[in-house]
This record gives sequence, C-alpha cells and structure tokens, in this order.
Amino acid sequence: MVENEIKQILLTQEQLAQKVAELGAQITRDYQGKKLMVISVLKGSVIFLGELIRCIDLPLVVDFMAVSSYGAGVKTSGVVKIIKDLDMPVEGYDILVVEDILDSGMTLSYLTELLMDRKPSSIKIATLLDKPERRRNTMKADYVGFVIPDEFVVGYGLDYNEHYRNLPYVGVLNPAVYAGK
Ligand code: IMP
Ligand code: MG
Repeated sequence: MVENEIKQILLTQEQLAQKVAELGAQITRDYQGKKLMVISVLKGSVIFLGELIRCIDLPLVVDFMAVSSYGAGVKTSGVVKIIKDLDMPVEGYDILVVEDILDSGMTLSYLTELLMDRKPSSIKIATLLDKPERRRNTMKADYVGFVIPDEFVVGYGLDYNEHYRNLPYVGVLNPAVYAGK
C-alpha cells in the first residue's frame, strides 16, 4: 500500500491548492500587458502547471521541455541533458519556467542559460518547492510555493523512479523504499 511508502504528508491537497491559487493571482498581477509563455519542465511539473495556469487570468501560451539530471536515483548526477526541446521560438516572449522543485539548482541554471541565448524578453522561474539546503549555486526562483527541508519528497507530480506522481499530496518518501539502491 502506498501509505507505508510515505513517511509523512508534508503538504496536503488543500494547502497545495491554496498556495497555487495565490501564486496564480500574483503572476496575473505581474504579467499584465506582457507576452507570457509558460514553459513546463517535464515531467515533475505537469500537475503544478495544470493547476497554476488555471489560476492565471491572462492570455498565455504553454510549451514543454524535458531535461534529465537524475537518472533513477534520489541524488543529482550534476549532468543535465535535454531530452525534449521546446516546439516554439521564445524570442520576444516573457518566459515563466515552471519547475516542480529547486534542489541543487543545476537543472534551472543550465536551462535559464540556454533559454537566455534565444533572446526572450524576460525569464522568471516559478517552483512549487524549494530545498535551499541543497543548493550548489546561486539559483533563486521568483515564485516559490513552499520551502521544504532536505528530504526526498514525492507526489503532486514529483516521482521516485517514475512512481508516485499521482498522489494528490506531497509526502516524504520512506527511505526504506530506496535503501540499498
Ligand atoms: P536540481 O537540478 O538538483 O535542482 O534538481 C531538480 C530536479 O530534481 C527536479 O525537477 C526533480 O525532478 C528532481 N528532484 C529533486 N529533489 C527531488 C525530490 O525530493 N523528489 C523528487 N524529485 C526531486
Ligand atoms: Mg524527477
């Protein structure tokens, strides 16, 4: 049963919904009159993206990008690889990159540098979760849902080995699940 694999529920469905609505309202205020492109970093951010864009009351376009820095483990390898690039050119757009979690910061620093070269009007970052204790660079997000402690979390889009993305809450994964891997 999934419940045995989750040590603790960190963020409930209600807390998540309320915070995402707040972020959406803030983004709606900040992006008045801009040309907004929301870029979702696959796959972890898809639930957050889906909820967030429904709380943004502005015209916007959405595109997807997939990068990998983890493989199958729970620790970053430090190597970021593009698995799927954007379909649309970003020149002239005000980009909002949507991430599930800002951890070491390697993924987002690589991504923002790459996107900068394509001449968008601006780039900002919205992350649902932030684990500042693990940062290896100066990466900061412009919109942060929740700052969380250094524990491996799953649910609401976040996975361990592609599992648990469908949990409606964010929970701490029981270390027994990945012990010895
Ligand atoms: P970073 O490059 O170390 O900042 O890693 C960001 C990516 O690592 C996120 O988009 C997640 O896919 C993954 N990640 C980092 N911490 C966790 C976690 O606690 N649970 C699930 N995935 C995580
Ligand atoms: Mg992941």
